[in-house]
Amino acid sequence: MIIAVDGPAASGKGTIAKALGRHYGLPVLDTGLLYRAVGLAVLKASGDPDHEADALAACDFDDAMLDDPALRSEAVGSLASRVSIHQSVRQALVKRQRDFATQPGGAILDGRDIATVIAPDADAKIFVTASVHVRAQRRYQDALDHGGHPDMDSLIADIQARDTRDMSRDHAPLRVADGADLLDTSNLTIDAAVQQAIALVDAQLERRRQA
Ligand code: CDP
Repeated sequence: MIIAVDGPAASGKGTIAKALGRHYGLPVLDTGLLYRAVGLAVLKASGDPDHEADALAACDFDDAMLDDPALRSEAVGSLASRVSIHQSVRQALVKRQRDFATQPGGAILDGRDIATVIAPDADAKIFVTASVHVRAQRRYQDALDHGGHPDMDSLIADIQARDTRDMSRDHAPLRVADGADLLDTSNLTIDAAVQQAIALVDAQLERRRQA
């Protein structure tokens, strides 16, 4: 069984994907980390994230980089969003994601194009979203919890810039896939969002069984 969880920055998709993984006993891949690793590798190589050849060369990143705490920063999130517009970069990361998706027993993947490109035949598809303000507020709290000094206005600007780039790019833009259920977490606690996600997945699985 494959479950696809897509959505914009700070929508809660990562938290929901992990909780679904625990609930259904499935391994989870945060595909954003792959794009973040490419972004960080470009930075370390002093390359230009907007230059396709530099970004593609960075796809060869060392797997140890996936554990680098620097991957989680907003700055690397922006770099990830810039390298991810290149078709060759997306292509270079496809096999890894499909291999994970098709492993025996099943898997959950979260990202931007899981239900549209990586696993369009997924058994269940959820698109997690939330208002820009709520998403910026979550990033703000996150930064405070990690001892940072966040600035709300720049967080809002960053999220809006990332949304625009992710939704308007030519290759694999962020969009709600056919057959996906929308889950707006703006006014939900984490527990409530997880319960709704489980209910949506169960309903999709049931519909498939009856089809
Ligand atoms: O956690 P957050 O939603 O902020 O970001 P992420 O999921 O780690 O993804 C970082 C960036 O990578 C996104 O803004 C996308 O541009 C890109 N990405 C993508 O293009 N396709 C994916 N499947 C996952 C991430």
